[in-house]
Amino acid sequence: MNYADRVLIENLKNHVEKEVMLAGWLYNNRPSGKVQFLTLRDGSGLCQCVIEKGKIDDDLFDSIKRLGQESSLSVSGTVKAEPRSLGGYEMVVTGVEIISESKDYPITPKAHGIDFLMKNRHLHLRSQRQWNIAKIRHTVVDSIRRFFNDNNFTLVDTPIFTTTAGEDAGSLFEVDYFGEPLHLTQTGQLYLETAAMSLGKVYCFGPTFRAEKSKTRRHLTEFWMVEPEVTFVGIKELLELAENFVSFVAQNVLEKNRAQLEQVGANIELLEKIKPPFYRLTYSDAVDILTGEKTKEFMAKQLAEFYQQKKQIEDKLGLLEEEQKGSIKEWKRDKNAAEIIELRAELAENETKIENNPKHAQLAADFKWGKDLGGSDETIISMMHDKPVFVTHYPKEAKAFYMKTDRSDSRVVENFDMLAPEGFGEIIGGSVREDDYDVLVQRATDMGFNPENYSWYLDLRKYGSVPHGGFGLGVERTVAWLTGEKHIRQCIAFPRMMDKVYI
Ligand code: 4AD
Repeated sequence: MNYADRVLIENLKNHVEKEVMLAGWLYNNRPSGKVQFLTLRDGSGLCQCVIEKGKIDDDLFDSIKRLGQESSLSVSGTVKAEPRSLGGYEMVVTGVEIISESKDYPITPKAHGIDFLMKNRHLHLRSQRQWNIAKIRHTVVDSIRRFFNDNNFTLVDTPIFTTTAGEDAGSLFEVDYFGEPLHLTQTGQLYLETAAMSLGKVYCFGPTFRAEKSKTRRHLTEFWMVEPEVTFVGIKELLELAENFVSFVAQNVLEKNRAQLEQVGANIELLEKIKPPFYRLTYSDAVDILTGEKTKEFMAKQLAEFYQQKKQIEDKLGLLEEEQKGSIKEWKRDKNAAEIIELRAELAENETKIENNPKHAQLAADFKWGKDLGGSDETIISMMHDKPVFVTHYPKEAKAFYMKTDRSDSRVVENFDMLAPEGFGEIIGGSVREDDYDVLVQRATDMGFNPENYSWYLDLRKYGSVPHGGFGLGVERTVAWLTGEKHIRQCIAFPRMMDKVYI
């Protein structure tokens, strides 16, 4: 068989009423007496292929009926426009070739627990949800490069083996580099600053590593980060760059992946609003919000909503479990079983929210100026907004040594985080960089870094220092926000987490 002639499912619109060949994997089969409705997936999409008995060899017809999920096959037939069918087209089949049979595929259409799916990640990636997320991630990555390339930034690839810590020294992975200790990069920033002094506007984009002992849904030990760095800018320009950039990425994903966003249940209406300007708060404003009356009321209202959701989930579960006790069709029993697993997971999540709400409300009410915002504080602030929020000017002590001390209030630095809306939390961290040699040496020393190890970085402040700054955006957190995926481990093909590396 010559597969070069095959047509991709995404291109079926160009072949209506024509005879073509598709090749892919069996996603699903619904045999009903003399007709089989195969769903084929080929990497570009899904297509329903209708096989009538008598149109192909009888033995082949029966073998197809017994074919296991994920068997590979090629199917020939006529393409029909069918608005009710998946993707708007289907195939009336005239020929089938079984390429390789698959038996007892472990991931069935029934729902599975996350641990099982992660252990079978190599197969799980074939599932529709993962396929949709992969397509969206692809557009996110493509849009990132497009934005910076089209805005005259030069790409500079920074090293993965590094000699210095960029962020918190406690989250470094050490590697044995021919007997010398080196680290896996936490950020390309320090190197990127040196490149900015040569090229003006630069960006790096690659994997970064953090040995953070955080098991949260927002933390990976290996994640992808894009970092722009620009000379002759202050915080105002950096915020504008960040909001234009994130809006461009969000609008591009909406334009290219609307179908995928719909399928994963993303909040399209909210994404349509992602346009500049974003909200701007100082850290001190954020503290006032957290400790104020409005947050108290907001948290109490949320708790009431969680209880309402709990009741709804329990009612639905009760109905389904009752139905399972009676005599119902096999397919309906399977469908119910899958739904029950999902509802139970939803219920567990809802119960965690009910448990956490008073704790988070208390943490917010007791928040003291000077601390870094915690995950739950960020969640509260971002829940109160329908567009991303910048939080700027954090207390010095809570932030990295390289951030520029605000000359009008030396308690704070000229930094910012961008919090994605609706409770998602931080997706960007950035700052203006300290450009005064003496101030930087003092800051590094105060924070326990040995300036001698940073001599090349300090040189930038010796030989023609200029105001400059930049930021870093985490790809997985961005994809999770855009898709509404709860855990960022689903937003990278092979996630690495503190407590688990599956395959
Ligand atoms: O705020 P962070 O630590 O900033 C930096 O690394 C700066 N050096 C960037 C710069 O100014 N050039 O990290 C930036 C972003 C976060 O907002 C988040 O999106 C992501 O990187 N990030 C993580 N994503 C997943 N898992 C983790 N453990 C992450 N840590 C940070």
